[in-house]
Amino acid sequence: DTPLTVLGLESSCDDTAAAVIRHAPPARAEILSNVVLGQTDLHAAFGGVVPELAARAHAEKLDLAVEAALEQAGLTLNMVDAIAVTAGPGLIGGVLSGVMLAKGLAAATGLPMIGVNHLAGHALTPRLTDGVEFPYLMLLVSGGHCQFLIAHGPDHFTRLGGTIDDAPGEAFDKTAKLLALPQPGGPSVQAQAATGNATRFALPRPLIDRDDCNMSFSGLKTAVLRTRDGLIAEHGGLRASDRADLCAGFQQAVADVLVAKSRRALAQYMELCPARPVFAVAGGVAANTVLRAGLEGLARDMGLRFVAPPLALCTDNAAMIAWAGLERLRMGARDDMTLAARPRWPL
Ligand code: KG4
Ligand code: ZN
Repeated sequence: DTPLTVLGLESSCDDTAAAVIRHAPPARAEILSNVVLGQTDLHAAFGGVVPELAARAHAEKLDLAVEAALEQAGLTLNMVDAIAVTAGPGLIGGVLSGVMLAKGLAAATGLPMIGVNHLAGHALTPRLTDGVEFPYLMLLVSGGHCQFLIAHGPDHFTRLGGTIDDAPGEAFDKTAKLLALPQPGGPSVQAQAATGNATRFALPRPLIDRDDCNMSFSGLKTAVLRTRDGLIAEHGGLRASDRADLCAGFQQAVADVLVAKSRRALAQYMELCPARPVFAVAGGVAANTVLRAGLEGLARDMGLRFVAPPLALCTDNAAMIAWAGLERLRMGARDDMTLAARPRWPL
């Protein structure tokens, strides 16, 4: 339980991020800096992340993010105890940029380097922010992922189910694109939905009644497309109220499915792990206020503790990678120059 300071690097999607955290038990870990350089403008014209552009931007900016993170933490590189880096899953060009930089820094300083699974970074965030103890149920819901995990340890997760096609964040982004709203779609759809009527359009809730923890979101996206085309055919275009109502209906459908499936996942988890149950969420879509309220209400009804990290730690960041690396370091983990960048890496 020695105090540890860890530098984290994250570059697996479209955020170039570096952070420094310090953990001196029994105190909660402290985030000394958390630098995130987004690439939204870079990809805006394409309606999605362009992997080659993302990779180049990471290669150009990751060293600057590291410099800024160290400076904001008031430290120099030789004052940290280890370097943690996202080694996958993600867009391989970006992951490679991070792994190569981490290897260079480790070679130059002799510091230990630890490869981190990006999903473990999200899944372990409630321990960084709230000191949650294992085992807890995690709903990981982002632009690329949607799954229920029981977290038993820093390297030990059981998957109860997940999406069989799109992730909800992807559905938010595609819905925004269909309605000519700015990317990323989550925040812009949520903003539109605030003034909309969620019950005007009957949108599907795929698999909601099936007795398992699997989900599907691609049919919902198709329903948004059909509804939009129907409205355009009828009125010659989309009125502001059409857009708001469609966003509200879509958002409610996603929240309804996630809440219903969370109820099932929680029942399974509480049977397996009845002592001090905790339900935690992470990933970019966990920033959605309607979803959060639904999940919080469910946890209250079922009598368990609900933990949702602050928004800046729900979306991609390097503090979560530094934390996951720190947890692995405490377990004695350490990687060498053979650390591979992995496009696919299930938990
Ligand atoms: O975790 P994240 O930053 O990246 C990964 O996918 O790993 O999640 C990004 C996703 C995007 O699809 C974005 O549209 C979605 O999270 N998102 C939201 C909200 N804020 C971000 N979705 C719904 N409501 C939000 N408020
Ligand atoms: Zn992520």
